[in-house]
Amino acid sequence: MRTSSVAAPTRAKAGGARKDSALLRGGVAVLDFGGQYSHLIARRVRSLGVYSALLPFDTPVSALKQMGVKGVILSGGPSSVYGKGAPHPEEGVFSGEIPVLGICYGYQLIVQAHGGEVKRAERREYGKAELRITDRTGIFEGIEGSGVVCWMSHGDSATRLPRGLTSMGESDNSPYAAIRSADGAQFGVQFHPEVVQTEHGDEMLSNFVFNVCRAERTWSMEGFLEETVESLRRTPEGRVLCAVSGGVDSSVASVLLNRSLHDRLQCVFIDTGLLRQGEAEEVSRFLRDDLGVPIEFVDASKRFLGALKGLADPEEKRKVIGRVFAQTFEEYARVNGPFRYLAQGTLYPDVIESGHTSAPASVIKTHHNVGGLPKDLKLELIEPLRELYKDEVRALGTLLGIPAAVIGRHPFPGPGLAVRIIGEVTPEKLRLCRAANHVVEQAMREEGLYDRVWQAFAYLGDDRVTGVLGDERRVGAQVTVRVVESVDAMTADWFRMPYPALERLSSRITNEVEGVVSVAYSVSSKPPATIEPQ
Ligand code: XMP
Repeated sequence: MRTSSVAAPTRAKAGGARKDSALLRGGVAVLDFGGQYSHLIARRVRSLGVYSALLPFDTPVSALKQMGVKGVILSGGPSSVYGKGAPHPEEGVFSGEIPVLGICYGYQLIVQAHGGEVKRAERREYGKAELRITDRTGIFEGIEGSGVVCWMSHGDSATRLPRGLTSMGESDNSPYAAIRSADGAQFGVQFHPEVVQTEHGDEMLSNFVFNVCRAERTWSMEGFLEETVESLRRTPEGRVLCAVSGGVDSSVASVLLNRSLHDRLQCVFIDTGLLRQGEAEEVSRFLRDDLGVPIEFVDASKRFLGALKGLADPEEKRKVIGRVFAQTFEEYARVNGPFRYLAQGTLYPDVIESGHTSAPASVIKTHHNVGGLPKDLKLELIEPLRELYKDEVRALGTLLGIPAAVIGRHPFPGPGLAVRIIGEVTPEKLRLCRAANHVVEQAMREEGLYDRVWQAFAYLGDDRVTGVLGDERRVGAQVTVRVVESVDAMTADWFRMPYPALERLSSRITNEVEGVVSVAYSVSSKPPATIEPQ
């Protein structure tokens, strides 16, 4: 299984480690064909109280059985099932032994596997469509109404159903928008039940998970907390060094570790020089003073800024930051050690999005907490949040008594302001970027908008624009404000900020940040853009 290939061997030794395969017993696996909503499927299933995780699309059936999964969901994906090199699951997946739900591409795989026909559609179907249900059994049990709004996103269609599969509904462009196998063990939908735009999508997934797979509700944050503390306590002897950044993830990880391994834990906060304004002071106040987590502060800003000098390429910057970060840790560990373990607040999407899965998704960005660790790292990794999504981490943090203001804090990337500075990171650009970010954060709070959005920040590049101050010409910087709404950062939409608030924000930035003469607002969603500009 390559999903957790980066840290699995080390984590197995660390004792505090948990593996997807163990958690998946009684749960539902999502075989990932690279679809943009694959994560959402797993999150939706988890929110029903049943554990779910993404596995490589070619995970052997024998492995699925060994894990004890109750069902399998085949995700969507960008390929055509009839295309050369298209990803296919092992054929045994369709034997009927394990219940299967195919979504979009996954649905087409079911049709093809049973001998049906999938072709390029005469008319591609994107966006909302009306599903007319003709068979209200299985996944459609209890769903009423003649037309159900569903979300379509496909260029191929099933044009002929084989014997053994029957239609459960149609849309204008898909005569077989939903199908089932005669034995009721396999279902396929051309649309996406996991996205909020699909009416009754949760009920469809719930029907599959509980009525078809007969899974039981065994996944809860309370249970996860109890089990994780227990399992962390079994970590073989040795001191643990934990990196904290003040963000929600590392804060939750450090409090969790403090609860499990207090006497063996040492947290370190590395000031990369790329942090938000007042960040170190704030972390010291809430983690050390209020929550009793043992933390030491290390000022490594000169080292980071030195290593970034002359670098403009975003991936190169990320890799250098990751490297310096790991080196700084190693040095700290040598001087203050011995430590055996390095603990980090890596989340599930970080692991997957860094390309450490055999799903046909490409590496989008190297997240420094995963990709930047050198191969010869002497410390064994403990990543207690490795299986969790962001909203789950927040729920866990609340259970651990972390204040709401910290839990609700917007995510901040590991490489810090470096990814909000396009091109080279210079002291002057850093000053502008930090000050502008501070104003954005303050203004969003004052406007009462902070908690309504996923992230709000400012970024800048090397653009110099002409401004006017009084009667004088003044050339200065332009910053771009980016505010996005999202549920999991895998996709995001730009926030339709009320004009008066936007106007106030713009003037505050130009008034309060010396050297900025112009403010732009980013109106791109993810995809095609990403949340951070670099
Ligand atoms: P992107 O820019 O990829 O960001 O759409 C998705 C989410 O991840 C955050 N982000 C990071 N977090 N290390 C992190 O811990 C990183 O290297 C990193 N890069 C981006 C970003 O702020 C957003 O919430």
